[in-house]
Amino acid sequence: MLAGSMTALSFLSAGAARAQGQLVMYCSVQEEWCRAMTSAFERDTGIKVSMTRKSSGETFAQVKAEASNPRGDIWWGGTGDPHMQAAEEGLTMEYSSPKMSELQDWAVRQWEQSKKRTVGIYSGALGFGYNTELAKANKIGEPKCWADLLKPELKDEVQVADPNSSGTAYTLLATIIQIMGEDKGFEYLKALHKNVNQYTKSGAAPAKAAALGETTVGIAFMHDVVTMVVDKAPVKVVAPCEGTGYEIGSMSIIKGAKNLENAKKFYDWALTADAQKLGAEAKSYQVPSNKNTPVPPQAPKLADIKLINFDFAKYGSSEERKRLLSKWDNEVKNLPK
Ligand code: G6P
Repeated sequence: MLAGSMTALSFLSAGAARAQGQLVMYCSVQEEWCRAMTSAFERDTGIKVSMTRKSSGETFAQVKAEASNPRGDIWWGGTGDPHMQAAEEGLTMEYSSPKMSELQDWAVRQWEQSKKRTVGIYSGALGFGYNTELAKANKIGEPKCWADLLKPELKDEVQVADPNSSGTAYTLLATIIQIMGEDKGFEYLKALHKNVNQYTKSGAAPAKAAALGETTVGIAFMHDVVTMVVDKAPVKVVAPCEGTGYEIGSMSIIKGAKNLENAKKFYDWALTADAQKLGAEAKSYQVPSNKNTPVPPQAPKLADIKLINFDFAKYGSSEERKRLLSKWDNEVKNLPK
């Protein structure tokens, strides 16, 4: 009896504390940027943020698993596809921010396509990075194209994330299919599998591994490789010659958010030009979605990259994403080498 009422009491007081200014944020970009965002928001608003960093696909799985009793309020960052899937599955909420008029068209389009349930916060192109010292030692020349990654000299020398956990790797899967068609695309991914030394959980990990000389090639968003270059690692960034896909990093409010007002405050704040400057300060060189935020000079120039006409609605749809991920699990992941 006593234990029961104590539990009820502590539950109530936790609820009251939440109502007084907390925010539970799920963050799917690089840890440094997640931390910079939380401390700046805390400083600007006095709202206490509890932040968890996980990859895009992992966060989607968590939001879905918690749907009957949501713990998170806002999901900030990560590739758009699982945000789109969450929107379609009713896991996130419609919201119209007063900041929408300051955003680039591609960010607004993401919001329209998701019926106002997710919005673009940044963009960046997929590519790869290679370690110039290892490339020389392995005599692979200068890889320039997706096709170059199939060279036998690169056996166990390519790293990429697992598309189930990582939005970066799902962007690769969707990109290759859009460039080559589904049958040839899967043939490519099976051939690539022979050269893959590890499917990592997080999308940016292969860029770091290439910088550290743990793998010759790391497939990642180009801006994640740029971070390594800025840190003076012996890596080169490549925009693949066949063309490449890109992401619209997104933000969504979780349906049933216990701190809904604070989630909306964060949403509006995160779309401001000032908040979006924090990315470059944390060495994340994406293209910001607020038109008034300067594009960091280090950001790969999207206009100079051969970008495909990425079909975000199709590849972010629940049915297609589930189908492609299970096909990849069945046909690629467990193939013997
Ligand atoms: C990195 C990139 C982001 C991207 C994110 C996806 O943090 O800088 O632009 O959205 O990876 O992460 P994931 O681990 O899901 O591939």
